[in-house]
Amino acid sequence: MKIDGRSYRTIVPHADGVSVEVIDQTRLPFALEMRRLATLDDAAVAIRTMIVRGAPLIGVTAAYGLALGLAEDPSDAGLARTVEVLAATRPTAINLRWALDHVAAKLRPLPVPERFGAAFAEAGRIAEEDVASCRAIGEHGGRLLADLARAKGRRINVLTHCNAGWLATVDWGTALAPIYMAHEMGVDLHVYVDETRPRNQGAALTAFELNGHGVPHTVIADNAGGHLMQHGEIDVCIVGSDRTTASGDVCNKIGTYLKALAASDNRVPFYAALPFSTIDWTLSDGVAEIPIEERDGHEVTHLTGRLADGGFATVEVVSPGSPVANPAFDVTPARLVTGIITERGVCEASPEGLLGLYPERRRAA
Ligand code: MRU
Repeated sequence: MKIDGRSYRTIVPHADGVSVEVIDQTRLPFALEMRRLATLDDAAVAIRTMIVRGAPLIGVTAAYGLALGLAEDPSDAGLARTVEVLAATRPTAINLRWALDHVAAKLRPLPVPERFGAAFAEAGRIAEEDVASCRAIGEHGGRLLADLARAKGRRINVLTHCNAGWLATVDWGTALAPIYMAHEMGVDLHVYVDETRPRNQGAALTAFELNGHGVPHTVIADNAGGHLMQHGEIDVCIVGSDRTTASGDVCNKIGTYLKALAASDNRVPFYAALPFSTIDWTLSDGVAEIPIEERDGHEVTHLTGRLADGGFATVEVVSPGSPVANPAFDVTPARLVTGIITERGVCEASPEGLLGLYPERRRAA
């Protein structure tokens, strides 16, 4: 996407052909800085510390990380160790596991000297596929928003949670892609952006994106969404997903479930937008089966921000000594999801709905 007239992607191969550059998302929204990932350790640290984050981008970074690991040791043992290191970085987003399994399966039959080049090329192909998928999600979801605006005959208000925009993917985004497409089509819309504690991906990243693209928006405290829905201020919710089960249960950033409950109570349509690589066909009960990442309590007890003089500071916001818990994701059961927007179209959040879009999975089952 473009910022100040310059096109960016979150991850691009470096000119040297043996490393990649990523946007350092821990510096946003105040500084747009690129970082070079040249080793397996660089890639693993980038994913674990959320220099890169968002399920599809984690997947693509892991694919490149696999190539970087093979540059160090292309043997079978090196491949297995690299997969293990990268798989351990973040447990919930299935795109990571999907990308590792996919690339590793292509590499295993290859002669050792060919593995690095093949892995780097395959990571690039996955990145392009992600861009195409997100663009298609944008087209399907954009039409949905255009129809909604036509039916309402006025500006529509969309609520989104966390950051599922181009920063969470290679380009375009998932939940924000329909918003960008509709905005480009001239649909009159406004976005309510949940701040998304504890890491504030909504306030920092989604707001940064929407600012950069001139999309009207308002950042709200996480707890404001239900109130706005009760007062008719939200016409539709769209969120991304880190893992969606074959039955349509949607795992996404912590707090998504509460928004879906409020949406259901107020008859506000609630959509999840996701590419095929986010669907875990092996699971059917998201609440019971999806591993939920427990992150460092420091994210809850402390906030980092910019001071009036331009400097940065981290401050403590919780009574010292109080224990904290920090589950990073939750699961919204399919019954609360109006529909799933994928690169193949929009479907019901159900096994039949998903299999209707991915019939090859019916044969595989
Ligand atoms: O912890 P994060 O920032 O990686 O969480 C990101 C989200 O929850 C996104 O909504 C999700 O990955 C979908 S991204 C297109």
